[in-house]
Amino acid sequence: MVLVIAGGILFSGCAAGPFGNFLSQEDKGQSLEQEDTVDALSMPLDPTVDLSYVRGAAYCGECHLQHYKDWKQSRHSHAMKDVVFRAFVEEMQAEHNGAKDRFCTQCHSAIGTRSRDIVPGFSFEELSSYTLEGATCEGCHRVVGVERPFNSGHLLDVTGDVRGPRDFEGIVHPIQGVDEFRQAVFCAGCHDVRGQSGLKLESPYEEWLDSPSAARSQTCQDCHMPLYEGRIAPYPNLTTRKDLHSHRFVGIDVLDHDPAPKTRDETEAFLRSSARLTLIVPAVVASGTDELPVEVEVTNLISGHRLPTGSTFFRQLWLSLEVRDVLGNVLFTTGDQTEEGDLRTDDNGLVIFGTQLVDSEGERTFRPWRAISESIDTTLAPEETRKVQWLVPLPLGMTGPLYVQGSLNFRAFPPKLLRSLNLYDEARKLSILELASVEAEVWVDIVDEL
Ligand code: HEC
Ligand code: HEC
Ligand code: HEC
Ligand code: HEC
Ligand code: HEC
Repeated sequence: MVLVIAGGILFSGCAAGPFGNFLSQEDKGQSLEQEDTVDALSMPLDPTVDLSYVRGAAYCGECHLQHYKDWKQSRHSHAMKDVVFRAFVEEMQAEHNGAKDRFCTQCHSAIGTRSRDIVPGFSFEELSSYTLEGATCEGCHRVVGVERPFNSGHLLDVTGDVRGPRDFEGIVHPIQGVDEFRQAVFCAGCHDVRGQSGLKLESPYEEWLDSPSAARSQTCQDCHMPLYEGRIAPYPNLTTRKDLHSHRFVGIDVLDHDPAPKTRDETEAFLRSSARLTLIVPAVVASGTDELPVEVEVTNLISGHRLPTGSTFFRQLWLSLEVRDVLGNVLFTTGDQTEEGDLRTDDNGLVIFGTQLVDSEGERTFRPWRAISESIDTTLAPEETRKVQWLVPLPLGMTGPLYVQGSLNFRAFPPKLLRSLNLYDEARKLSILELASVEAEVWVDIVDEL
């Protein structure tokens, strides 16, 4: 198959067909001038974006003060600065000698990748400030359509008018309306990630397509860009509007940058709205039994996608449970951590909601580029309730009250993973957010020999 490369400054991205192609030159068996992974739309061989047309976020921010401030605090502005991202990319660069460098940047900086500011063997220090803006204003507001719902599937035209949700004369600049701005597929272009083998790595959009949210036309924007009242720009003749959309893109947001307290509160509230826990234990354990059945129901309250979603192979969402007697002796514990903060490897009762990637040796891997399949998916479907049960053995002769405490916990990464990237400080700084907690007291009649 012949690779058609987009010509000129504008795209001709459709050349790759609706799903593009992820051919590497290696796969095509050509002699390599330069080992590089190519996709006509998102990783072109010749530039399809001319950086000299890009104005940069600070320029837009001169007028759109609130949008700029919010975006600055969002993960979108950190997409190329994120220390974990950089550590991964540097590891991958070392492993592949440049051959896959642009694969990781096609969404984290579409502008930098398509302008070929990012080339095989690049270093973050040498990139232009526009590239380092990550998922920036013009990475979205120059989108003229969505060619495929994954892997940087947007068509970008940086030369034309600013794009937005509707056609608009504007008192300062015209805006050309693009319908997708108000549709979930707009986010899909970057948020659904397929590996080079085609493996589905991240799929919030695909999950959304089958969800109760989609059925009632509730989009990603409805939840992640809530409306607020404000001024679009500080012009005296422009009154406040009630239909502005938050650009903070609240998600999990808790790790490597210190968000303003307001953003942190908002993030925590958002996360806590995502799950519910119910604890079911008997009020009394009658004599003649030597086990306490503990049941927990976990509900994903999000109607738009699974919990967790996105990079589910990094995220940790798990249940902790502790059963104590009146003296504080712990009869049972799961979901607790070692001194270094890791979940115990000998924790047989551990219940964790996420996915696991497997490499070509059949081993679990946290390096998405090495993954060839997914071995486990325990994420919760939209609005799903899942029951989990433990049988806690009770010591002979015991009598009296028992205290049962459970919680659903979330953190961005396993500390062990960050240590494996030499990010020791970040591993220590990782915070655990309790999404929900439950407790109950149980009375135990004397536990006899059965
Ligand atoms: C010199 C000031 C100024 C700059 C710079 C500017 N804008 Fe605007 N923009 C405005 C004003 C004012 C409006 C609202 C016009 C009105 O209501 O008549 C607007 C409207 C918009 C809208 C449409 C709002 C709607 O209601 O649909 C979008 C989208 C937008 N701007 C994005 C951008 C982006 C992206 C940039 C940077 C590339 C940018 N603007 C740069 C002043 C500016
Ligand atoms: C198709 C677009 C796309 C591609 C390609 C892509 N990413 Fe991402 N990446 C995303 C999106 C979207 C998120 C946010 C998802 C989330 O938070 O769950 C993300 C999040 C991440 C995060 C988590 C950041 C944090 O601090 O929470 C890391 C690390 C990361 N990506 C690394 C990589 C690496 C390494 C590659 C290449 C192997 C890569 N990405 C390729 C879109 C992409
Ligand atoms: C140009 C690519 C791109 C587009 C388009 C895009 N995103 Fe993102 N988004 C990213 C990347 C990359 C990240 C991860 C940045 C990081 O953490 O390093 C991200 C992160 C996020 C996060 C934060 C997740 C977390 O871990 O806290 C949310 C929420 C989010 N995006 C929502 C959206 C929504 C909603 C849309 C559609 C309106 C959208 N994004 C469109 C690239 C994109
Ligand atoms: C009904 C509201 C709702 C809708 C619709 C929705 N989300 Fe979410 N989303 C949430 C909540 C609540 C969370 C926080 C819980 C979590 O992290 O999973 C979240 C989390 C996320 C995260 C962070 C996941 C992580 O752990 O890194 C990403 C990325 C994301 N959503 C993207 C999207 C995209 C893309 C769409 C549309 C295809 C979408 N969301 C639709 C409510 C929603
Ligand atoms: C990840 C994609 C993305 C990024 C990055 C982004 N925007 Fe937007 N923006 C949108 C979407 C989507 C809408 C329309 C939401 C809707 O109408 O449902 C929007 C709407 C707007 C509007 C119209 C008014 C409003 O609030 O609805 C303005 C103005 C705007 N953006 C300015 C900016 C500026 C300035 C930046 C950079 C500082 C920026 N945007 C970055 C996706 C993005």
